[in-house]
Order: sequence, then structure tokens, then C-alpha cells
Amino acid sequence: MSFPQHRPRRLRATPALRHLTAEVRVHPADLVLPMFVREGLTEPQPISAMPGVMHHSIDSLKAAVHEAADAGVGGIMLFGVPTTQDAVGSGAVSPDGILNVALAELNAEFGDDVVLMSDLCLDEFTDHGHCGVLAENGTVDNDATLEIYGRMGVAQAQAGARVVAPSGMMDGQVGHIRAALDEAGFTDTSILAYSAKYASAFYGPFREAVQSSLQGDRRTYQMDAANRREAILETQLDIDEGADMVMVKPAMSYLDILRDVAEMSTVPVAAYQISGEYSMIEAAAANGWINREAAIDESVLGIKRAGADLILTYWATEVARRLKG
Ligand code: PBG
Repeated sequence: MSFPQHRPRRLRATPALRHLTAEVRVHPADLVLPMFVREGLTEPQPISAMPGVMHHSIDSLKAAVHEAADAGVGGIMLFGVPTTQDAVGSGAVSPDGILNVALAELNAEFGDDVVLMSDLCLDEFTDHGHCGVLAENGTVDNDATLEIYGRMGVAQAQAGARVVAPSGMMDGQVGHIRAALDEAGFTDTSILAYSAKYASAFYGPFREAVQSSLQGDRRTYQMDAANRREAILETQLDIDEGADMVMVKPAMSYLDILRDVAEMSTVPVAAYQISGEYSMIEAAAANGWINREAAIDESVLGIKRAGADLILTYWATEVARRLKG
């Protein structure tokens, strides 16, 4: 009788053994909670396409940040939903714009206890829904947008953002924002660059969340899903322009990209488990088709295993609590 020479099953025999020999672990501090603050709200409002995620009022935002911090979450990424939009996204650069007001409130409440990150993009603030301003021929004007991004970055830093996160995929945005921040004296404000951000159908629920008025798509600036090598180019450019951290987005359909970027990056790598990835699991679980908590934990672990140092996920607080036990 011949016995198998190797028995990898030995290390799977008990939960304690599996725990001891696990190759990767998610830590609460790896997790970043994306949050939405909506102008004019006095009570939080549910986002129907993202069950469990809220549009926050300033007060409910503070309460939710307290919960996240208590659970050990590493940071929060704030998005603003203004009541009015215009062609150039004025609300993004004004200190009275909802995102900047909310950042200032959170900074006053939490200071350095929570890493405050803010989305740096115009799409929530423009009436056409694009991430930049439009040229006369209707295309997104890269260089005119950079100028606004620079001012937006300074406004966010002034309001108290510790990290600004340009997500608009304009060429040169990281270098331009870095220069604007430095010139205004914000040499210590970090940039988390959405470096490899792909045009994706999985952003669908987010578009409802930010009440996007976008007609058409973002395919002239966000990356094409077919491209792998180009993610390395985008990431290297951002690192060369001064990105302190880089990001791959979405996460689950792009784990190969995440692995590639993790292998070449000389700065921390984030991955964003986006709205569609969240809502699919919530919907399947609500139908009784999958075990909700197990599916959530497996999805987050898979992103970590692929190479993410930081994971942006709408389940950050829940997962952090579960990890703490
Ligand atoms: C752009 C931005 C988007 C997301 C984050 N920042 C939307 C887009 O590019 O259309 C998507 C987040 C998600 O889907 O969870 N400001």
C-alpha cells in the first residue's frame, strides 16, 4: 500500500492550526471606510442601490466615524453630495462646499485620531457629471481640469484632509496637485492616487449614491478593462509625480492588476472594493443565495491576498468589528 508522501491537509485539521498557518490576515487598520455626506440633510438617508450604506448628515457622519474609529478602522474616505451643481463644479473648491464643510467638522472633532481622506474629483459637483470641465467640443479638458484640481486639493487641505485622493484620471493630476499643495504650504498633505482606475459597470450603484447626472460614460479618461500593462505605466507615472500611495480600482475583477501593481510599487497600494461589488454580495445574501458574512470576509481577504496594503470597503466597520471579535 502506498501512502501519499505529502499531506497538506494536516495543517487544515483544526481551526487553531488553520489560524496559525494562515498566510495573510486582514487587520482592522488595513480598512478604509468610504462615506457620503449630503448637503442639507438633518437625518441620514438610505441609498437604495447600496443597502446598508447611508447619505449622512453632518451629525450622523460624525457618529459613524466614531463607530469606525472604535472598531479600529484605519481611515475614512469622504465623498460630498451637493444640492447644486454647475458646469465647473464650483462647490468643490469653495470652503462652503459640502465636502469641505464636512472635512472641517470632522477635523475639529477627530483631529489626528482618524486619518481623514477626501475624494478629489469634480463629478459630484458638475451638472454634466464628468470628472473634469468640458472643452467647447464637449470633450473633457484635461489641462483646464488640472487647474481646478489644484485649487480643490488646497481647499481640502485647508479644511483638514490629511490625504487627498484624486480619482478623475486626468493626465498629470498628481504632479499638478502636489505642486499646488506645496505652493500653498501643505507639504505634509499626502496624495493617494487612483492610479489604475478602470471604466467599470460596477460603479452603477455609486452613481445613484452621488446623484450623478452623467450622460454617456468615462471611457475617454478611465482605463480600458482589456489593459494590464497600461496599469503599470499609470502607476509609475503617479509615483514619479509624487504619489504617496497608489490605488487599483475596482478590486474584484482586477485582482491580477492589483498583484502586478503590488509587485512594482515602491509606495503603499490600496484597492477599492466598489459599490457594485458591495451591492452584488448584499443582494445575493438578501436572496438567501450566499452566506453574507462569509462572502464579505472572503472577498476582503482575497483583495488583501492579491497584494493590497489598504482596502477601501463599505463593510470596513463591520469587518473590523468581526476581526476584533
Ligand atoms: C469618482 C469616483 C467614482 C467612485 C469613486 N470615485 C465613480 C466613478 O468613477 O464613476 C466609485 C466608487 C464606487 O463605485 O463605490 N469621483
